[in-house]
Amino acid sequence: MGDHYFSASPSVASRPGTVRVHSGDVELSLTTDSGVFSHGRLDRGTKVLLDSVPMPAVRGPLLDLGCGYGPIALTIASRRRRLPVWAVDLNERALGLTRGNAEAAGLGNVTACHPDEVPADVTFAGIYSNPPIRSGKQALHAMMLAWLPRLAPGGRAFLVVSKNLGSDSLHRWLDGHGFPTTRLTSEKGYRVLEVAPRTN
Ligand SMILES: C[S@@+](CC[C@H](N)C(=O)[O-])C[C@H]1O[C@@H](n2cnc3c(N)ncnc32)[C@H](O)[C@@H]1O
Repeated sequence: MGDHYFSASPSVASRPGTVRVHSGDVELSLTTDSGVFSHGRLDRGTKVLLDSVPMPAVRGPLLDLGCGYGPIALTIASRRRRLPVWAVDLNERALGLTRGNAEAAGLGNVTACHPDEVPADVTFAGIYSNPPIRSGKQALHAMMLAWLPRLAPGGRAFLVVSKNLGSDSLHRWLDGHGFPTTRLTSEKGYRVLEVAPRTN
């Protein structure tokens, strides 16, 4: 694993590459770089997520939690050009890539920023994420507890997790913490979990 999970400023030298993202009627050409998750390719889990998720039934801002170079943020921003899309990451190189990719694609509805920069009163109709499972359970659970309570009524979160990296244990944990969770898809070794707002 590279330092992209833990470092705000990757030390590895920049080595830009291009990735074509094609999902449904969205086609994007995105710049990636070393020191950022899935450099030079579209992650298979991300592809499973993009090909399976619906857009939310309610209207409101969308969030890509852990945006990397931006394949999820930019795809959902293309599907809903009038909605604000927040793309957050701790990795500054990732945020720079997402900003540049949004600009190149003419997607002015994307704001890429550090998680702390999202105003506290913003709630989300949809949260879309390939979460940083390898950061460990504690960090993952803290992230879930920070963002899932910000789902708007009727909103949904969609999380893609590899079966081998604990999708079923995350599913149980979410249910156990009051977030009703169902399995939307199971494909190519990945599960997409659909999470509803907390009931209690
Ligand atoms: C599995 S990668 C997914 C990247 C991108 N969405 C994709 O599909 O290619 C998870 C991302 O979460 C970021 N990350 C790690 N901890 C985070 C945190 N606490 N808040 C926001 N992002 C975080 C990592 O830097 C990494 O870019």
